[in-house]
Amino acid sequence: MLAQIANTDFHGFLPTRGSVMLDFVFLALFAVIPVMAWSIYLVKFRKPDETYKCEWHKRIQLALGVILLIAVTAFEIDMRFITKDWRSLAEASPYYASKLVDYSLWIHLCFAVPTPLLWIFVIIRAMQKFPKPAAPCEYSSCHMLWGKVAAIAMFMTALTGWVFYWLAFVA
Ligand code: HEM
Repeated sequence: MLAQIANTDFHGFLPTRGSVMLDFVFLALFAVIPVMAWSIYLVKFRKPDETYKCEWHKRIQLALGVILLIAVTAFEIDMRFITKDWRSLAEASPYYASKLVDYSLWIHLCFAVPTPLLWIFVIIRAMQKFPKPAAPCEYSSCHMLWGKVAAIAMFMTALTGWVFYWLAFVA
């Protein structure tokens, strides 16, 4: 059935040329970024007696990490076995011939490739170093630095991904 979908003019569920998975990831990032921002806001602006907010931050970040892992796996399966050739979907774009679509993809990959690795690193180290339930400790300053790097990388992955999607499948 999935192969049938890929072989018809109807690709995804948005009125664009994107495949089901491309549409899904495009939309999912609009949910992931505000949730991540809210999770960081919880720890950043907590009062001294509100350490339970650290545990909420942990739960939200772990959930986002799992969603990220599922999205990356589903995306790889889609690109390799279902859609296979995203270029045939992007050829109708006025930015395809000038290679703007390719440049935007390269910029996107500069963020999209290291981001899952950064997230795995930040999550594993946080799980090892923070007490249970999660609370500030001597590891805090290191986590706050790498947590910021991982969060900015995620935001840039989303931003550059949206630009690529628009140039390739909407324009
Ligand atoms: C990729 C996942 C994660 C990201 C991007 C992230 C990001 C951040 C950021 C940016 C801060 C600093 C907020 C500020 O400026 O005050 C922070 C604080 C904190 N995070 Fe995470 N975090 C992640 C996962 C986790 C996990 C899994 C845990 C628990 C095991 C955790 C526990 C904490 C705690 C306890 C603080 C407060 C530290 C303190 O104020 O002393 N984080 N996180």
